[in-house]
Amino acid sequence: MSSSEALDVDRVRTQDLDHVWHPMMQHQGMTKDDLLVIVSADGCEVTDADGKTYLDAYAGIWNVNVGYGRQEIIDAVHEQMRELAFYPQTQISVPAARLAARLADLLPGDLNHFFFVNSGSEANETAIKVARQYGRSTHPGENRYKIISRHQGYHGFTMGAMSATGQTLRRSQYEPLVPGFIRIEPPQGDAYGADTVAKVIEREGPDTVAAIIAEPIIGGGGVLVPPDDYLPGLREVCDRYGCLLILDEVITGFGRTGKMFGCEHWGVVPDVMTIAKGVSSGYLPLGACAVSEKVFDAFKGEADEGKEFSQVSTYGGHPTCCAAALANLEILTRERLWENSEQVGDYLLGRLRDIESPLIKEVRGKGLMLAVELQNEDGTELDGDRTGRFGKALRAAGVITGKMSHVREGSEPVFTMSPPMILKEEQADRIAGAFVTALREIS
Ligand SMILES: Cc1ncc(COP(=O)(O)O)c(C=O)c1O
Repeated sequence: MSSSEALDVDRVRTQDLDHVWHPMMQHQGMTKDDLLVIVSADGCEVTDADGKTYLDAYAGIWNVNVGYGRQEIIDAVHEQMRELAFYPQTQISVPAARLAARLADLLPGDLNHFFFVNSGSEANETAIKVARQYGRSTHPGENRYKIISRHQGYHGFTMGAMSATGQTLRRSQYEPLVPGFIRIEPPQGDAYGADTVAKVIEREGPDTVAAIIAEPIIGGGGVLVPPDDYLPGLREVCDRYGCLLILDEVITGFGRTGKMFGCEHWGVVPDVMTIAKGVSSGYLPLGACAVSEKVFDAFKGEADEGKEFSQVSTYGGHPTCCAAALANLEILTRERLWENSEQVGDYLLGRLRDIESPLIKEVRGKGLMLAVELQNEDGTELDGDRTGRFGKALRAAGVITGKMSHVREGSEPVFTMSPPMILKEEQADRIAGAFVTALREIS
């Protein structure tokens, strides 16, 4: 739409209702006014077609890390489009090469090699395939294909990534899923830590296990921060049994939790890291599977040995998306936004924890990755009607959050937050204030 063209909002709403299939939503009974028509955004705020402005405490969908309306990224995309809008990764593209080198500097350890894709799901799909091929080529005579993942974890919507995902609602209608995925409980206090994982590997047979995949902090499953010994324990177990540690940093990467990557809180370096979302702050789609030198070396061989990685993606490494990511990372590092995530994240966590209400079961999180879990006054699961009214009240108070349901029995709903990492304390106050208002509304 050109800026001179007036927006016929009602027509757009009708077109949407008639033709757009929205994610995770029941369309029966849906009306034209149920969803917002977001038409513009700046900083931490988005504006709808009626001119109402909201504080986007979800940063799109956990991804607009540097905030909206960054002219630098827009200019970089424009320039790259004019120069070379597209060429595939079958040859060298300047932005992809530069981005890979920049990422090699930013990622911990020797995660120096990047297979570019378009989304977090594809990044995890790639990591699963890398782990299976690596397992077979480095352990001849064994068949290492099993991938261990956790209940409540989320890794994407494609069949492999969904098979690693541990949320029943997102899986059950699409079974049978990919064979060879073993799911374990996420850590709960001291339970289900590295010892449990080791026992599962022993039971499955170490010579059948290719990798463990985990989010450093489970995001969509309700923002679950593990105990401090958990990730180091997983690292040790992977080393002991010769399997790969894949860390899914799709949400936790690029400053979200107060460090550049979630794993840095615990000094753990994975063999494979998957990234997406914050790498380009959503200005254009981009994901990648990063591997260590050890893993990359396992794919080297003679031309006729068949050791190369047999995967191609038409749009993976798209020059324009890589140009957007480079400009995004320039902003993120220049403004040291992970520091703001830590400071304002601590502040917001404190403000939310200060709210006294029997309806709050728990407030948790790290950096600007936060969640408020609600309950009825008697500690039972908050009923659907109250949950719906709470969500509407938050929105009426001008704040957008995520809402997770059906991720764990007896644990819903969880209202999740991941505001742009430029959030200021007064904006954090606005978020906490909206929670107070919405709680009053359903009390
Ligand atoms: C931890 C994690 N991994 C992977 C994905 C999948 O990413 P995408 O939606 O870009 O495919 C998501 C999406 O929310 C995620 O939260």
